[in-house]
Amino acid sequence: MGAFGIRGMCWRRNRMKQIYAGLLVSSILIGIWLLLQAQTEHNDTVFKLNQEIQTLRAKIHRIQTHEVDTSIPIIYVITPTYTRPVQKAELTRLMNAFTLVPNLHWIIVEDSSSKTDLVKNLLTSFPKPSTHLNIQTPAKMKLKPKDKWWSKPRGVFQRNLALSWLKENEKNKEGIIYFADDDNTYSVDLFEEIRGTKRVSVLPVGLVGGVKVEKPQVSGGKVVGWEVGWGNERPFAVDMAGFAINLQYFLKHTDVKFLEQVKVGHQESEFLFQLVSLDQLEPVAVGRVLVWHTRTQALNLNREDWFLKHYGYSSDTGIEL
Ligand code: UGA
Ligand code: MN
Repeated sequence: MGAFGIRGMCWRRNRMKQIYAGLLVSSILIGIWLLLQAQTEHNDTVFKLNQEIQTLRAKIHRIQTHEVDTSIPIIYVITPTYTRPVQKAELTRLMNAFTLVPNLHWIIVEDSSSKTDLVKNLLTSFPKPSTHLNIQTPAKMKLKPKDKWWSKPRGVFQRNLALSWLKENEKNKEGIIYFADDDNTYSVDLFEEIRGTKRVSVLPVGLVGGVKVEKPQVSGGKVVGWEVGWGNERPFAVDMAGFAINLQYFLKHTDVKFLEQVKVGHQESEFLFQLVSLDQLEPVAVGRVLVWHTRTQALNLNREDWFLKHYGYSSDTGIEL
């Protein structure tokens, strides 16, 4: 064997070494990659399972605290709501109050073409029976940014949908209907005052209609008129938050609903006019303000554009407001 043959063998051995080394490095790399894959999958599974645990915990909590007492009427609270930055804050305030009320069933109706995760998740953590509905107010009936806030009725389609739902689903129940807008403030005592409503009860409302308190005028236990800052001539000069209706009484008046077109501020009056007469009204919470027509002040989000430019994402990215 000549020198050339030996050199050839050495070259081949080196080449083999290189190939083995290459194979070794690639298998190590593939191994690491597989390990990382498995780790990610593992993390995803743990994350998903934790979420399932949370949902189940919420469910258990709901079942344990349902406390349905058939000896007292259910209070069906109807809340129209729509997506905006203050929505979760408003609904959380309501949820905290409603959680303290026995036998309450919360019907939330979103003014939207589909149900949002925000409301869905909020109701998951609400420890009482609830119903989640949605209906979008037709574009021509919807307030535009430049419209005066009182120029178009709000919550009409949503409340009517909730009333139809009650007619279809709860017709055999003893219950009371109460319309609770998402921006008002409710005392827990309010619900005990309205629970005995036989037809329609009425009560004082704070911070509404340009005065501190609007209230029914009561004489000898009967409503004889209205003490309000404006619109005294309305047959029922009362805000949406100032009355409650017995469910069975309501079901006897099948065609009653909120009207799409009414004079400004006449929504409640036109609705009640279809249901009762003044002398049939039951005054409750006499001498007490248990609900306030609070309105959340116009938001200041004037640094949001700056935030977006500075950080490259909006301030609520990755965190629900
Ligand atoms: C007053 C009354 O308190 C309301 O009950 C009544 O619906 C309204 O006037 C009217 O005349 O239509 P106000 O405070 O001016 O209320 O109304 P909002 O609180 O802005 O709206 C009432 C409800 O409708 C709220 O629960 C709100 O979330 C909801 N809404 C409002 C919608 O579902 N979609 C909208 O586009 C606007
Ligand atoms: Mn309001």
